[in-house]
Amino acid sequence: MLDYSQIRSELSEHYDLAPSPELAASMQHIYSRMDRVVPPPEWAIYAPYVKAINDLKKQRNAVILGHNYMTPEIYHGVSDYVGDSLQIAMKATEVDADVIVQAGVHFMAETSKILSPEKTVLMPDMAAGCSLAESITAEGVEEMRAKYPGAPVVSYVNTTAEVKAASDICCTSSNALQIVDAMEGDTVIMTPDQFLAQNVANQSKKKVVYWAGSCIVHELYTAEDLRAYRQSDPDVKIIAHPECTPDVVAEADYTGSTSGILDWIHAHKPSKAMLVTECSMASNIADELPEVEFAKPCNMCPYMKKITLEKILWVLHSMENQVEIDPAVADKARLSVQRMIDLSRKLGL
Ligand code: 13P
Ligand code: SF4
Repeated sequence: MLDYSQIRSELSEHYDLAPSPELAASMQHIYSRMDRVVPPPEWAIYAPYVKAINDLKKQRNAVILGHNYMTPEIYHGVSDYVGDSLQIAMKATEVDADVIVQAGVHFMAETSKILSPEKTVLMPDMAAGCSLAESITAEGVEEMRAKYPGAPVVSYVNTTAEVKAASDICCTSSNALQIVDAMEGDTVIMTPDQFLAQNVANQSKKKVVYWAGSCIVHELYTAEDLRAYRQSDPDVKIIAHPECTPDVVAEADYTGSTSGILDWIHAHKPSKAMLVTECSMASNIADELPEVEFAKPCNMCPYMKKITLEKILWVLHSMENQVEIDPAVADKARLSVQRMIDLSRKLGL
């Protein structure tokens, strides 16, 4: 891969990327979805990239799958489909495209490739990882199996293809409890998120044993902070992601996946809400829900924030950063992901 200055000079030879108030004004229909959170001078910078990416997508027969944590100019400007990990994974199996650009982190791109091996899957930045995916290897899964013989392994989708291949089934934050409950036997091994596992254990009849990984974004929130926040503002609704600790979840008015959180806010329209998750979540719905005041603070995922319009344009232009998985690993990993999708569909999730 070229360095940034080489990338910039190559892109500027092929696309007109100079900030343009005129172009920005002509793309008002896109800007109107984010004008409460993106100021006009910033939009004038983004608009040429958004136009170049959307034009190039047509030439390449490409779609962009955007996770809910993408920044507004990516989420609203160039993504063809947005959603939580489960929704994006399911969309990857349905889209009729030659190329998928994953606007999200690496494990999401791997999941798309596992499910659509015939498609070219591009990662705007290969270094966009995840603290959970990095916390466990396939050997770690085997260690857990040796410790709890016969117990099924449910691995969060926030894992590498090798870990998925070593597991019996995957889960996401929107189906973890139902997947664990559907497993045979009394004991279920969950990897790699200790807090998701503890939150599931608190609602499940199964004995849940788990790997000790954590999300560096969600583990930062404390129940003490939330209590202090609620005391200073009793009207606030606190909405958490299940990667938070059980103490934090106990303080929340609702806990769910990123899409669960968005659905809850749309359905309840609280006057004030604190989203105990990644910062872009509130920004992405600020225009749709002007009646909701979103309380700060929030925490940013440094991996998700590696994805930018410039890097998306670069991979679509150069077709660099293609995600490849050893076919034998991908075949095994596909069984785990497909079992999750089939069970989720069967359970109506
Ligand atoms: P969701 O499946 O809820 O989108 O979560 C993915 C993630 O990485 C949250 O930190
Ligand atoms: Fe991973 Fe946490 Fe970032 Fe999600 S928010 S990608 S779990 S580090």
